[in-house]
Amino acid sequence: MKKFSRVAALATFLSAGVSAGALHAQTAEVLHWWTSGSEQAALGEIRTAFEAQGGKWVDTPIAGGGNARAAAVNRMLGGDPATVFQFSIGQQLRELADQGLLADVNAVAEEENWDEKLPPLIVQAAKYDGDYIAAPINIHGENWMFYNKDALEKAGIEVPKSWPEFVDAAKKLEDAGVIPIGLGGQPWQERILFNSVLLGVGGREFYAKLYSTLDDELLASDTMRKVFETFAALKPFVDEASPGRNWNEATNMVIRGDAAFQFMGDWAKGEIIAAGVEPGTTVGCAFAPAIDTAYIMTVDAFAFSAMDSEEAQAAQEKMAHVMLEPDVQIAFNKKKGSIPALLDVPGDSFDVCAQKAMATLQDKKTHLVSTGLFGVPSAVSGAIDDSISNFWNSADMSPEQGQEEFRQAISYAK
Ligand code: GAL
Repeated sequence: MKKFSRVAALATFLSAGVSAGALHAQTAEVLHWWTSGSEQAALGEIRTAFEAQGGKWVDTPIAGGGNARAAAVNRMLGGDPATVFQFSIGQQLRELADQGLLADVNAVAEEENWDEKLPPLIVQAAKYDGDYIAAPINIHGENWMFYNKDALEKAGIEVPKSWPEFVDAAKKLEDAGVIPIGLGGQPWQERILFNSVLLGVGGREFYAKLYSTLDDELLASDTMRKVFETFAALKPFVDEASPGRNWNEATNMVIRGDAAFQFMGDWAKGEIIAAGVEPGTTVGCAFAPAIDTAYIMTVDAFAFSAMDSEEAQAAQEKMAHVMLEPDVQIAFNKKKGSIPALLDVPGDSFDVCAQKAMATLQDKKTHLVSTGLFGVPSAVSGAIDDSISNFWNSADMSPEQGQEEFRQAISYAK
């Protein structure tokens, strides 16, 4: 692990009040997958702050999280690393640290007391072997349900509180000529819908125990079969153009009222805001139907390639510092649709959905982790996405068969 052990030097540098013009511009190539309107607008807040403090930003956008993560890793392995790259904190990032591919940003973290200012779950996930290997910059929730209020009124339905209620409501929406679920037919999006059903049917303790233990008996349980039966019951409620659709196109379907619901992370709220809609007005937000309250978290972060040059290391430290400045945290997260990772950033200027998220997270029993990257090894994450997508797109696989394929895929991957 490359070490930056220059706390005193850094403290002098950051607090020197040296004007941007006088600073030698540190150049950071930033590789990321934030290509939608709201993602670009949110990242722009970080870029503006970085450049105002003398940094030089070289932008390398790559559409699709999986593509961008693969590119970042290949660049490092190929000896041409990006200075800073987007990742989600969790097990896959720790795997990269284990291979010695990452730099740490301990100097910034110590100077700015991240250990105290970040939630314990995030501190633990952002560290490897005691070193901070990423700058966590937000908390997204994946078990959100966004809905078009006019579409619900047109069908004469209320916001469903359980999955059986949702199925009844979906039938009424179909009769009213509204697509019940706006879905992007990509494995990671189908998995987000599945995990909301799993949480909704099994409950937060079942979700936490299943994904933390990957226990075979839980995977083969009656509860899991009920999850697959409920998930299968949703298949008829998406339109035929769903396969391959990008998540933000599905969000636009709900904004326009062509679709009534989207089950998606609250980055969809960023698109709703970017479209000029105040969340909670014509487009509402609620947690997906569930038997208890919980928040499936994913945390966006930027990691830092191990690099020899002093300038690159200085640029990495500046970037880590800028990303967690309170003003930047507020400006970035309000446009991204997420909430600040820092515990001490005031939330009163955020939208009603973000306020609901902040209030919910006060109760640690609601804290769950995404299987996207945060909570499970990358091989298991891929097995979950692939087996769920196979089941969702199969015309003849029964819920029992889907459950068994899911169990086998995870058993082989863990
Ligand atoms: C997630 C990421 C979100 C958003 C989403 C869709 O992995 O955490 O910030 O970018 O991908 O692109």
